[in-house]
Amino acid sequence: MERTYLMVKPDGVQRGLVGEIMSRFEKKGLKLVAAKLMVIPKETAEKHYAEHKDKKFFPSLISYITSGPVFAMVWEGENAVQVCRNIMGKTNPQESAPGTIRGDYCMVTGVNIIHGSDSPESAAREIGIFFRPEDLVDYKRDS
Ligand code: CMP
Repeated sequence: MERTYLMVKPDGVQRGLVGEIMSRFEKKGLKLVAAKLMVIPKETAEKHYAEHKDKKFFPSLISYITSGPVFAMVWEGENAVQVCRNIMGKTNPQESAPGTIRGDYCMVTGVNIIHGSDSPESAAREIGIFFRPEDLVDYKRDS
């Protein structure tokens, strides 16, 4: 079964959207296997976003993602990476359809509420950055 790494970013936590966001993935039928509220250390943020390190927006991305608590999660399900990206909407919230998280709750690419892995390989890497293997809970979800 595929797993993906999702993270409610500092703007989502500040606006009290964690419950609403989790509810969308739960109701869709994905299974939560790990979650924690944390402030990301700068070095961890730089590792997580290493692929963007040469981009102009990298410094602002790092300062934003470390500016307050994030809610880090691992979700599991068939084709979980793509299913979650569909629920999140596009990176640019102005191009995200209504009904998606970014389509419903934000306007700015740099402050876009939620992160989700873009491939199963990225998911494995990102889960390994934020969680220890023993943090991932093994259980059966009935629905
Ligand atoms: P995320 O899915 O977390 O992955 C990389 C992040 O970089 C992305 O969401 C945006 O928050 C941010 N990002 C991508 N493109 C831009 C941009 N052009 N300007 C500012 N931030 C960006």
